[in-house]
Formats: sequence, structure tokens, C-alpha cells
Amino acid sequence: MSAIDKALIPEALFPTIDALCATAVKLSAVIARGPLGQSLGAGVGENSDGDQQKALDVMADEMFEAALRPAGVKHYASEEQETVLVLDEAGAYALAIDPLDGSSNIDVNVTIGTIFSVFEAEEEAEASFLRPASEQIAAGYIAYGPQTLMAVTFGTGTHLYVLDPETGAFELATGQMDLPVAAKEFSINASNRRHWTLPVRAYVEECEAGVEGAKGKNMNFRWVGSLVAETHRILTRGGTFLYPSDARKGYEKGRLRMVYEVAPMAFLVEQAGGKATDGKTPILELQAGALHERCPLVFGSAEEVDRIAELHG
Ligand code: AHG
Ligand code: MN
Ligand code: MN
Ligand code: MN
Repeated sequence: MSAIDKALIPEALFPTIDALCATAVKLSAVIARGPLGQSLGAGVGENSDGDQQKALDVMADEMFEAALRPAGVKHYASEEQETVLVLDEAGAYALAIDPLDGSSNIDVNVTIGTIFSVFEAEEEAEASFLRPASEQIAAGYIAYGPQTLMAVTFGTGTHLYVLDPETGAFELATGQMDLPVAAKEFSINASNRRHWTLPVRAYVEECEAGVEGAKGKNMNFRWVGSLVAETHRILTRGGTFLYPSDARKGYEKGRLRMVYEVAPMAFLVEQAGGKATDGKTPILELQAGALHERCPLVFGSAEEVDRIAELHG
């Protein structure tokens, strides 16, 4: 039995997407049991980007790797793996994955997720991923929240599927997600204010000036600390997200990783009518120089992303 309604999924990619969804159904059940099962938030090590690895980070990575090996994937790049793994020499695809995004939220029952990006596989492993983000053939996220849902794009719009607990499969809920042009909310880790560049500070102050300010409208502040949760809110009701470069050592390119966080979210957002830049340049025009390279990320309602680019001069 398939884990997802075939609607809108290209036939050649169906086995890969089905394997992702079947794993997500299992992961959703593990996450829903929380402390009734093994400790999911326990620290178990450090990954190659210096993140503290939680038990669920590693468990999710192992589950997705095993499920994707027989599902058409030649090259597997993961936040939790230092290098690219070769899963099936005969596979047609290269898949990059953030197996568990928002790990700091595991123990507090806040929405966490999985992010993935798919390219046609190249001969050489790293070459499959170190290429223009515009060459992605698919991208998506799964959110483990009140609903377990998947937003996915194959280049002809962003589609929304929701896991139906009664059938145990993802059903198509929205054929085309449409990111609102106007924003009423902005998202940034405000604890980093003292490290921001002047254009970022100027934009946030415009948002904070509210009705009395240049925007002439109130902008609510939201920060979940889970990129998947922020992205789903913005795809659904508009808004702006910023994880910019800042003055901290190691944050010259922000906190988010190009290959398995920034590029897939940019593809999804643009396919829904929004915009995604590094503050100025469209993400889809950029490429990573290394597997875990970071990239500053600004995305959301088109008029806000344009304003931020204008402030960057
Ligand atoms: P991950 O849990 O996969 O390492 O990703 C965490 C990312 C992203 O989910 C979130 O937007 C951001 O880190 C939160 O950054 P802060 O640690 O600055 O809150
Ligand atoms: Mn991490
Ligand atoms: Mn992440
Ligand atoms: Mn992660």
C-alpha cells in the first residue's frame, strides 16, 4: 500500500517520494509517543556542522537512509553525515536531507520536521549537490505537528499533502499553495540583534515601527526555532523569515545550510509565488561550494523580500 496519494507526483519520482512518506509515517508515530518511548532529545554526539546531535536526529537519518537505498537514490547527503553516501549505484537521483529540523524543539512538543531536495544524480557524489539550486527537480518538507503534513514541489507549483491518521497515508489537501504577497508577521532570532548588519537592523525596525511607521501596518513577531514550522506558516498566511549573516564567528553566512535547508525551502517558496534570497541575490541562482556550507536566508512575501533587497543596496 502506498504511503501517499499518487496525485501530482511524477511517475519516475514516485518510489522515492513514497519511501520518504512511508518513513515519515513511522517517524510521526515515534515523535507522537514522545517520552513514552526512548529519550528522543538526548544528546548523542556532534555532527560535522558542529550541531549537538540528538537521538532523534540520528534515528531519523538511519530510517531515511535505509528506506531510500532501494528507492532510486544513488547519492545521499545528510546533515547528520559528514560525506555523501552512495546508496545504489543504479539510482537516478541525488537526495539531500535534513532528517530532523528544529532539534532544539524535540523535548518541548513543538513542531519539528524533515527537509529534502532532489537532483538528477551526477557521476561524482559531491558534484550531484554542489551545483545551482535551480537544478533541483524536487524539494519538500514534512512537518510533525498537530497535523503531519508534506509540502512538495516538482517545479509546477507547491502541493500540500496531509497524513490521514485513519488511512495511514498522505492525502492531497491543496493542489497549489499560494504564498500571500502581503505580510503581517516577521521571523528572526531577535537574540542576535546586536550582531546584525545595518540593512537587517533597518528592516526589523521598520517592522517594529508598526502602524505609526513607514509600513503603516502592524507586523507581529514570530520565532519558533524550527525552519519547517516557520516556512509552513509563511507559505500558508504570508510573512517574512530572516536568518542573515551576522558578526558572530562562524555566522558569516548565517546558521542555515544551503544544500539541505536553504535551497529546498527557496524552491518551495518560489513555486508558491514567494521570493527567497541571501538578502539580495535569489537563492536559486546560487550554489554551495561545500556540502555543509551555510547561506544567509531571507524568504517570504514578495514585497517584503524586495524591500530587504532594496535596503541591502
Ligand atoms: P536543525 O535542528 O536541523 O539543526 O536546524 C535548526 C535550524 C532551523 O531549524 C532553525 O530555523 C534554526 O536552526 C534555529 O536557529 P537558532 O538555533 O538560532 O534558534
Ligand atoms: Mn542540527
Ligand atoms: Mn535544520
Ligand atoms: Mn537537522
